[in-house]
Amino acid sequence: MKKFFIQTFGCQMNVYDSDRLHATLATRGWAPTDKIETADLVILNTCSVREKATEKVFSHLGKINKLKKKYNLEMKIAVIGCVAKELGKVVRHRAPYVDYVFGPQSWHLLLGALENTPTLCDTGNYRLDKFKDLATVKTQAVSAFISIQEGCDNVCTYCIVPFTREREFSRDFDTVMKEVDQVVSNGAREIVFLGQNVNNYKDENGKNLADLIRATAKIELVKRIRYVTSYPTYLTDELIDLFGSEPKVMPFLNLPIQAGSNAVLKKMNRHYTREDYFAIIDKIKKVNPNVVVSSDLIVGFCGETEEDFQDTMDAAKRVPFLVSYSFKYSPRPHTPAQKAFKDDVNPKDKAERLKRLQDLLHRIQKDFNQACIGKTVEVLIDQDKGAGVFRGRSPYMQNVKIDTDKEGLLGEVVSVKIKDASSFLLYGELA
Ligand code: 5AD
Ligand code: SF4
Repeated sequence: MKKFFIQTFGCQMNVYDSDRLHATLATRGWAPTDKIETADLVILNTCSVREKATEKVFSHLGKINKLKKKYNLEMKIAVIGCVAKELGKVVRHRAPYVDYVFGPQSWHLLLGALENTPTLCDTGNYRLDKFKDLATVKTQAVSAFISIQEGCDNVCTYCIVPFTREREFSRDFDTVMKEVDQVVSNGAREIVFLGQNVNNYKDENGKNLADLIRATAKIELVKRIRYVTSYPTYLTDELIDLFGSEPKVMPFLNLPIQAGSNAVLKKMNRHYTREDYFAIIDKIKKVNPNVVVSSDLIVGFCGETEEDFQDTMDAAKRVPFLVSYSFKYSPRPHTPAQKAFKDDVNPKDKAERLKRLQDLLHRIQKDFNQACIGKTVEVLIDQDKGAGVFRGRSPYMQNVKIDTDKEGLLGEVVSVKIKDASSFLLYGELA
């Protein structure tokens, strides 16, 4: 049996895509392997959101080519996802040993190409086709991702996603719900809806994300519901209300502010001010004061002053932001900022601002985690590590490790008394 190996970079949508591709290859007579050197087909599912991510792909490709030369000259190599879309044929100029290049909306073509075409580069946008052609989902995860919306019509000036994933589109409500049923029968107990602007999900019959959440919450075996990533101004009152009225919706929201300064937000073409953002948070906290907010943050965007940066630090403290991600701005091709603005914050300042921000975010997280010591936290167990060790997540996406004599906890929500905490992990025992 021929073997395949998939490596995934970037966001959860890529993890979802790789999972579907994995399942489909498996139904067509391919067997997965986790050793590249034994693979007949190596697939890199790539991310181009930052320059570093793109360069990583080429260094990996170099290593794969060495393994191909050493172990299997017949090995096929496919680059799919956002770098494939960003660079198209250039991928094969820089790495001529690559056989296939497909974008985030065309990688399902790989399946036919493997049978009919020795090499192919097609980064076209076939929108919903990849969902139609695919086998039932592979995932047996306790926490299952389901992609419901892709693309972006927002034109944030720093962002390559409107180029790589193109225009926004939503999958149809009924097919999404069918997939929810499938993953639940595979063992999923938490459903995580995914989309670049997931809270702007709207299908052709007008069904929105709140409809999907309500329908999913009715399924008894589903214990938790989350969604990522939300755009601040698309957070409707209906969605906010669900934080108060639907206990299966976790009190945790990923709502990237990106920057805390109004001047920078304007230059980024984000359609809100810091005051608008804080007003949204206030509204959520009124409905449910326990909701915790996570953010993505960019430092060193074009023209960012020290004062602007302080506004970002202030926002991080004020909200406060937990389980958050922060990045140095890097100019990306095909973006308005790369065309119109100067990348004028010097690298030393960018690095130093990032360090200050990340130190602050770590401190906030550590304080939050330490405040859990002595408390009882509800944990969804998603990993059985063996020998009585389990891992799971709190409602606030904290990693929790527990030791116990009990068995069969996978997929269960258990009460855990927290004994110890670091910035990254809570440790506890069954309460
Ligand atoms: N430079 C740095 N970070 C970026 N992001 C998006 N584009 C860039 C860029 N050009 C960040 C944003 C986004 C996350 C996925 O990556 O914070 O939310
Ligand atoms: Fe990376 Fe964005 Fe593409 Fe996801 S959509 S893989 S974050 S570039």
